[in-house]
Formats: sequence, structure tokens, C-alpha cells
Amino acid sequence: MFSINDLEITRVERTRVNDQPLVNLPFGKYFTDHMLEVDYVDGAWQKPVIKPYAPISFEPSLAALHYGQAIFEGIKAYKNEQGEVVIFRGIDNCKRFNVSATRLQMPTVPEDVFIGGMNALVKLDSLWIPLVSDHSLYIRPFMFATDCFLGVKPSETYKFMIVLSPAGPYYAAPLKILVEQHYVRAVKGGVGYAKAAGNYASALLATTEAKAKGFDQVLWTDPFEHKYVHEMGVMNVFFIIGDKAYTPSLEDGTILAGVTRDSIIVLLREMGFDVVEGAINIDMIVEAYRAGTLREAFGTGTAATVSMIKELQYQDVEMKFDIDAWTVSPALKTALTDIRQGKTSDRFGWMHTV
Ligand code: COI
Repeated sequence: MFSINDLEITRVERTRVNDQPLVNLPFGKYFTDHMLEVDYVDGAWQKPVIKPYAPISFEPSLAALHYGQAIFEGIKAYKNEQGEVVIFRGIDNCKRFNVSATRLQMPTVPEDVFIGGMNALVKLDSLWIPLVSDHSLYIRPFMFATDCFLGVKPSETYKFMIVLSPAGPYYAAPLKILVEQHYVRAVKGGVGYAKAAGNYASALLATTEAKAKGFDQVLWTDPFEHKYVHEMGVMNVFFIIGDKAYTPSLEDGTILAGVTRDSIIVLLREMGFDVVEGAINIDMIVEAYRAGTLREAFGTGTAATVSMIKELQYQDVEMKFDIDAWTVSPALKTALTDIRQGKTSDRFGWMHTV
């Protein structure tokens, strides 16, 4: 059985880090010099290796390509004001990754391999961390089935990898959102709570149709009445009504347990809000909008951080917001940024230094 102490590193001959300035970066387009790769064979994780970022090749019968046994995570690294390389809540993503692995009948990845491998990779490629605002080094751990076999069964072999992408914001502007009334993202007993690759593929058609109507994303609703709010595109969702903050509960397993979601709940409570995690009927949102008590609505996610909703359409009800007057979502974004950049104390123990 190998551990992270066996990590073998092969460095690039020439770094690409100076090929383009690390400013105004799109999300997810550029990749750093190196990647981490660990194979699972014969019931055990093999020697972890870091090597130059490069294509990988497989037989066309690769199980992951046919039946979608594939999961991933999203984490961010920063250079703080003290000049340290820091990662935000990586341990929580590691735990969630293994929850997803169990749901998809995949082996769990030992914490020392996940965290140790991520730290070593981020340290090696730390010159790739963008230093401008709203940018970070996006960390993408993922695992997929590598058996070459067409029968439907859990694969016996897997590959766990981490790649790094210097990235700007996922959403550059406030969002126009359509409350989904036809398609469904998740049902109780399904894989909604897992970060399964297939969840994102199955969301594409709804999102494409919403985009054709002029929206940026959909707000998913329950599969029976299309009334109870789930997630919003690649984010969790929050509504501020009066002095309460509402977000859908994780209870029935249809919602991804966002690490940013959890952080926002903590920060909202610190700001004095009563945070309600429960069933959110869209009628309550419409009523609050009409009564003038719906103060703010926003999405949260690792990639998206805190993204304000400027318009929300439910059937024929158009809700438009004066986002320039909002204070809560900007304050939350600033609070998160300040902790990540070491401008305020890491009072919740969210950062670890690489
Ligand atoms: C993240 O926020 O990190 C995600 O995983 C969403 C992704 C699909 C961009």
C-alpha cells in the first residue's frame, strides 16, 4: 500500500507560467505545468506521481466514458497578504469527494493522498497563483473508472487526478435566472448530493434552453410540483427576507452540500442573520418580492463565490432587483475574500498553509 510519502515528482523542463499574464483570466481555460495522478489497482491505491501536465490516453472501452462513473471537486488556492500559499477548506472538499465516491460505488481516496498530493502540487506550481482580485488557482481533483469493459458494474480500477487552473470569476456579472418548470436536476434517493460528473451533463439541456430565452442559468425546483427551490446552476442559492436568510435544506439529499454554502451560513450568522435551512416554496419568494421584504438573492459556490441575482423569473412573474443598493451579498463576498487573503483573522480555521 502506497502513501503520500511515496510521492514521485517529475518536473517540466521549461515552465509555461510566463507565457501569458495571470490577469483577466477566463474560468477553467488554462492549466499549470504539472498534474497529480494516482491509480487504484487490485484493491489498493498505487504510487502517487506528479508529472508534467499532458494528455492521457485510454482504450475506447473505458468504463467512465460509457456509464459515467466519474466524480470531481472544486477548491481554491490563494497567495495571502503574508505571502503564504493557502488553500480554502480543502479538507471539507476531500470529505465530500469521498461521500460522492461512496455514492458512485468508487473507492474512497485516503485523506493523506488527497490533501498531501494537492499541497505538493499547489506548492510546485505556486507561481501560477494569480495575484489580482477575483482570481485564484482553481484546484480540480477528479476520479474516474478505468476498466476497459462494457458490462454495467462498478469498475475494478480507477484514476484519481488533480489539475490546477489559474482562473478568474466563473460569472463576471450579476445573473438573470429562470425558475425551471420542466426539467429536473435531482430527486430524493438520487445523486443530487454527489458531485457526479453526470449531474452536470444532465443539466445542460435545461441551461441551453434557458440561455436561448436570454437567461444565464436556471433555478432548479422539486420534481413533483416545480415549486420548492433546489440549486441554481452550479451553485447553492440564498434569499434574504427581512432579517432572515433562507437556503434549501440538505436533508433529502437532492442538494449539494456546498462548502461555500456552509461558509456563507457561518458568516451570515456572524452578521446577525437568522439562517433558515428548510423547504423554500417559490410562492414565498414571490410574496416577499411583492411585499418589498425580499432584500437579496444570490448563488454561492467555489467557482462562483457569491453571485448576485439581478432578475428572477417564475412562470410569468418577473422579479427585478436593484442590486446596486444591496449590502449583504457584497459584505459576504468581502468577508470571504478577506479571510482568504489574510486581511482578517482566519477565525473559523478555514485556511491551511501549503
Ligand atoms: C465549483 O464551484 O467548484 C464547481 O464545481 C462548479 C463547477 C461545475 C464549475
